[in-house]
Amino acid sequence: MKTQPHIKTEGTSKFQIGEIRNNVIHYDFEKIKTYLNIKGHILFGKNFRIYKEDEGLLFKLCSYFIQDHYSCAQMGIDTNKGILLSGPVGCGKTSLMQLLLHLAPHKTNYEIIPTRNIVFSFNASGFEVLEKYNDPKNYCFDDLGVEPTGCHYTKECNVMGEILLSRYDLFKAKNTKTHITTNLNAEELEARYGSRVRSRLREMFNLISFDSSTTDKRK
Ligand SMILES: Nc1ncnc2c1ncn2[C@@H]1O[C@H](COP(=O)(O)OP(=O)(O)O)[C@@H](O)[C@H]1O
Ligand SMILES: [Mg+2]
Repeated sequence: MKTQPHIKTEGTSKFQIGEIRNNVIHYDFEKIKTYLNIKGHILFGKNFRIYKEDEGLLFKLCSYFIQDHYSCAQMGIDTNKGILLSGPVGCGKTSLMQLLLHLAPHKTNYEIIPTRNIVFSFNASGFEVLEKYNDPKNYCFDDLGVEPTGCHYTKECNVMGEILLSRYDLFKAKNTKTHITTNLNAEELEARYGSRVRSRLREMFNLISFDSSTTDKRK
C-alpha cells in the first residue's frame, strides 16, 4: 500500500490533514487542528483542547514539524535548527512536544527525555551517560533547567551543559537536531549553563515562546 502521511488513522476513523498535488502534500492548518484536538483527547484525556490563544504558536510549531520551508522562512524559523520551546510551568510545552510527534513522523522524529532522568542516570552510572547522547539521533530534552547538578561519587558535573556542547558539535557536523522545553528564559539559561552554552543555543535553536501570561492548564 502507498504510504499516505496526510491521512491519519485513529481506530476506525480517518483524518485527512492535507492534499497531495504534484506529489507534494499541501497541509491544511484547520484540518491539522481538528486532528490534534482528537489526538490530544486520546493521549491526554477529555479536557484537552487547542486553546485559541495558543494557535499562533501552534501554527509555528506545525509548520516546523511538517518542514514547510516557505511558511517557516516567512516567520523567521530555520527548518535546519531545533526548537527551544519556552513558557511558564503548566502551559503545555511537554504535552505539545508529545502530541506533535504524531503530526508528520515521516519528516521529524525525536525521543523525549526529561533532563532530571538524564542526571539521575549520570549519578548512577557516570560519564558513559554523556556518551549516550553524543549520538546522531534526535532528542527533545524536556524541562531543561530543573535538573540538579550531576554528582557521580565525588565528581560533580553540569550534565546538561556538557550534553548540549556535544549536541552542538553533532548539529554542526551532521545537522543532528535537538529540541528543548524549558521554563527558563535566555538570561536564566546563561546563568545556569554559562555563556559558552548560551551562544551555541542561539545557533542551534529556533526560540519559540508561550506568552508569559499563558494560563496554567493544570488548573
Ligand atoms: N491544550 C491543553 N488542554 C488541556 N489540558 C492541557 C493542555 N496542555 C496541557 N494540558 C494539561 O496541563 C498540564 C500541564 O501540561 P504540560 O504539558 O506538562 O505543561 P508544561 O510542560 O508546560 O509544564 C498537564 O496535566 C496536561 O495534561
Ligand atoms: Mg513540562
